[in-house]
Amino acid sequence: METIIEVKQLCKSYLSGQQALRVLDHIDLNIRRGDFISLMGPSGSGKSTFLNIIGTMDAPDSGEIMIAGENVTRMPEHQLALFRQKHIGFVFQFHYLLPEFTIEENVAMPLMIGGMHRPEALTRAREILDYLGIAERGHHYPAEISGGEKQRAVVGRALINRPDILLADEPTGNLDKNSGKRMLELFRKIQKDLNQTFFLVTHDEHIAAIADINYQLDNGRLSKTS
Ligand SMILES: Nc1ncnc2c1ncn2[C@@H]1O[C@H](COP(=O)(O)OP(=O)(O)OP(=O)(O)O)[C@@H](O)[C@H]1O
Ligand SMILES: [Mg+2]
Repeated sequence: METIIEVKQLCKSYLSGQQALRVLDHIDLNIRRGDFISLMGPSGSGKSTFLNIIGTMDAPDSGEIMIAGENVTRMPEHQLALFRQKHIGFVFQFHYLLPEFTIEENVAMPLMIGGMHRPEALTRAREILDYLGIAERGHHYPAEISGGEKQRAVVGRALINRPDILLADEPTGNLDKNSGKRMLELFRKIQKDLNQTFFLVTHDEHIAAIADINYQLDNGRLSKTS
């Protein structure tokens, strides 16, 4: 199967007082298209740091990251912004929808930013919202829909560019048990329907239970747990 992300000997340290805290210590990882991966680990073990680096939101101290065949490790920021938009979808807990735009407009936003004309972008957004089962919410504003619906809209916005990988940091963290379960079922459906690759950081054992591959991050090291 096609490798979509390749991480080689990745290192990242932060200064903690006088001492360097090595959060990521020579990490290697290969992600293939269509993989559904969970990453667990104690609080402070570097999961978000790792996810942000994979998402090109943060740079490593050393090591290499290849995404969709391109080395992004030393790509300049203006180029990275375009690359990110094309290749990576983010579903972050604090990645809010813009309150002054409708759900449809929020989902269409990445396409319009990419230069697509508004009518076409909105049509595409409506298709995705339909697929996600919230078509009738498209004309509402974020404040007018439920938390679970908002989360689905965020997934729609992340999917609209057909990214190579969908990254999520605690995607079920602020949802109640049932909404969390529905979100996971939706992710699995998207994986199957679109062969979409997922990388989910979580404390939620339900996610780990349904993922195809589980990793654990501890003391700077990544290990496969199942
Ligand atoms: N910008 C920063 N400057 C200094 N230290 C940082 C910075 N970002 C993260 N850290 C530290 O790096 C370590 C890893 O943080 P990170 O947020 O990646 O952990 P995490 O595994 O996502 O934790 P949680 O499960 O609580 O979200 C922590 O000790 C954190 O305090
Ligand atoms: Mg975190």
